[in-house]
Amino acid sequence: MAGKTEPIPGTADIFPDEAAEWRLLEQAAREVFTRYGYGELRTPIFERTEVFRRSIGEDTDIVQKEMYTFEDRGGRSLTLRPEGTAGVLRALANAGIPQGDERRVHYFGPMFRGERPAAGRRRQFHQVGVECVGKCAPEIDVECIAMLLDYLETIGLKNGKLLLNSRGMAEDRAAVSKALTAYFSERRDSMCADCERRLESNVWRILDCKVESCREITAAAPRITDFLGDRSREFFRGVCRGLELLKLDYTLEPRLVRGLDYYEHTVFEVVCEGLGAQNAVAGGGRYQIDLPGFSQPIAGVGFAAGMERLLLARQNLGLEMAAETPVEIYLVSLGDEALAQNLRLATALRRQGKGVMMDLEGRGLRSQLRTANKLKVRYTYILGEDELARGVIVCKDMRSSEQREISFAELQLD
Ligand code: HAM
Repeated sequence: MAGKTEPIPGTADIFPDEAAEWRLLEQAAREVFTRYGYGELRTPIFERTEVFRRSIGEDTDIVQKEMYTFEDRGGRSLTLRPEGTAGVLRALANAGIPQGDERRVHYFGPMFRGERPAAGRRRQFHQVGVECVGKCAPEIDVECIAMLLDYLETIGLKNGKLLLNSRGMAEDRAAVSKALTAYFSERRDSMCADCERRLESNVWRILDCKVESCREITAAAPRITDFLGDRSREFFRGVCRGLELLKLDYTLEPRLVRGLDYYEHTVFEVVCEGLGAQNAVAGGGRYQIDLPGFSQPIAGVGFAAGMERLLLARQNLGLEMAAETPVEIYLVSLGDEALAQNLRLATALRRQGKGVMMDLEGRGLRSQLRTANKLKVRYTYILGEDELARGVIVCKDMRSSEQREISFAELQLD
């Protein structure tokens, strides 16, 4: 049984040596996304439940089974965000998007889904994502996908495979639903209980079922793109053409619908080898989102990448881990006066931007040097009575073992 100090299954503590890797992913995202005009937006981690229900879709696994929903003291139903898009759109719509205008934002942060924990599947996981809202053109989707691939390459993931499909528009839905219903109805006896229900409530969702027997059936289901009307086909051709123009490889996946119901037109995922069943490092698409309190649906395109999966994918490739910047200097004090002087010196050096640690307990020389070695500092500064009297400190270069004296004046300590 898990001890009481362990984090809840599906959540994790991130310690400083790992946090450096996380910062690398975040820093690269900031750099790449701002180059494409996407500024950072921070939204609350909980929202009114309606914001997610309406946009993600009643029949999705997320809304049906995975949301962390609670009532606040006022009896309002609130939910920890299971994804970033809905909250970001709520924020942008609330701030106002003038007709014909565009808003581009990126975001980071924890998301929450009550899924069964597994490698690469957490209950609290972290996404880095973007949304480009307000306009609709195939080229915007192309640029958005190109930016994702640019980001993945920047963090060393060049082995991702881009899967692409179109879900068409509202006007195509009936034709696709009819073809899917005809196909799945004939196979209903071999499908899971959820999919039997989906056959009545939302047949598209069967295509996203993770149950093995359903996946086998789905593999030969009608291809969505075969039932799209001219306008959707033309849009999708534009996306494919744009990707080809930029020489970005893609694989058509004509049954890809993704786990959220707000998509129309383009949907895509990037999968990496070696991650087992949870191999999608990122996913996204174009959407049309209906939010409570707003009369018009909001159009946009975006994606989110799962940071835990990006880290796993980097590990799998054996990429060097980013490391915490080590402390540069360790101050050794011999005697109380030296300790008092080193306290001042540490403050001065830190103000000069240097990383400094020191013994604060008046331990002996050997144990202080042991700590300096353990910290792998570049320099150890040793201050005893004699040095104090002369206004100098002994500086030992830990790589070359060379020693020299530095005056307090040189250290700007006077
Ligand atoms: P999603 O496919 O649900 O899309 O999630 C995006 C990525 O988040 C996944 O590809 C995966 O890497 C990661 N992820 C999802 N669930 C988990 C989990 N339980 N544990 C670890 N990682 C996970 C969205 O969330 C959409 N909002 C993406 C989007 C933005 N579409 C348009 N704009």
